Amino acid sequence: MYPLNRNRRLRSSSSMRSLLQEYRLTPNDFIVPLFVIEGNKLKEAIPSMPGYFRFSLDLLAAKAVSLWKQELKAILLFVKVPDNLKDNKGTEALNHNGLMQRAIKIVKDAVPDMIVITDIALDPYSSFGHDGIVEEGKILNDHSVKILSEMALSHAQAGADIVAPSDMMDGRVLAIRNQLEEANFHDTMIMSYSAKYASAFYGPFRDALDSAPGFGDKKTYQMDFGNREEALVETQLDIEEGADIVMVKPGLAYLDIIRDLKNKIHTPIAAYQVSGEYAMLKAAAAQGWLNHDQVMIEQLLCFKRAGAQLIATYFAEEAVKLI
Ligand code: PBG
Repeated sequence: MYPLNRNRRLRSSSSMRSLLQEYRLTPNDFIVPLFVIEGNKLKEAIPSMPGYFRFSLDLLAAKAVSLWKQELKAILLFVKVPDNLKDNKGTEALNHNGLMQRAIKIVKDAVPDMIVITDIALDPYSSFGHDGIVEEGKILNDHSVKILSEMALSHAQAGADIVAPSDMMDGRVLAIRNQLEEANFHDTMIMSYSAKYASAFYGPFRDALDSAPGFGDKKTYQMDFGNREEALVETQLDIEEGADIVMVKPGLAYLDIIRDLKNKIHTPIAAYQVSGEYAMLKAAAAQGWLNHDQVMIEQLLCFKRAGAQLIATYFAEEAVKLI
């Protein structure tokens, strides 16, 4: 009670504040999402994600080397698939010599210790832009899960350390785990997008991969942002099915979900600060309305305070320069 307690004593100097800071950012917190395209020496700008690029495979290898030098140890790969290779079943996703499979190998050759995480969902491969197979306007669950588990195996065979199902089909974590076990990929991990909401924050990402749904939305598989308890149900199921790491997505508007999970589960939690969140800060900073670096660091640290052990963020490289 005042005057015995004067909490401002705890903030009296910069040294005191740094001694007492509860959470800190380090390069070990970050997962770097990377967009990959066919071609040579290509570094394509993404208009709705200023400062972010799609890389062809040769430049991807160089990027991996540069990230490693900055102590960034994990990347999350997404591929932009040419339209002529897209179909309803995402056939190209299973091509052992597909863009993703080659990307995994190239990174692993360039930086063997880099943790390579791959996205598992059909949307970049789907002529409908949906995460699963479409039949009469509906997204089929079990048929999609079969293909997704084969896709995960194919990524494991190419050398992926972690497969990350982002599709939100029921039962996909179990199917992937079984598929990996049967093929003796006991050590390949699963980072499951467990509480993934149907969000308009994914807009710029869908520009980056040209993967927006051709009809309807993703609300029959991704979660309703009005729901909180459901996040725990989804996440607990994924853990029972064999997820090694669980994820909440989007990030900043969903910190309550991260904290709910942190209070109830003991599996590592990742947060995904998504493309729309990146775009918002870039846009506000470009107007001179927000201090880019300060807001960026504040947001990233808030993920840790909320309970995230890992943060997938397009700001990773900019952030490590400041911490
Ligand atoms: C694909 C996928 C999406 C994102 C990650 N994996 C888009 C979607 O579900 O429509 C979004 C990432 C971002 O916005 O940064 N299933």
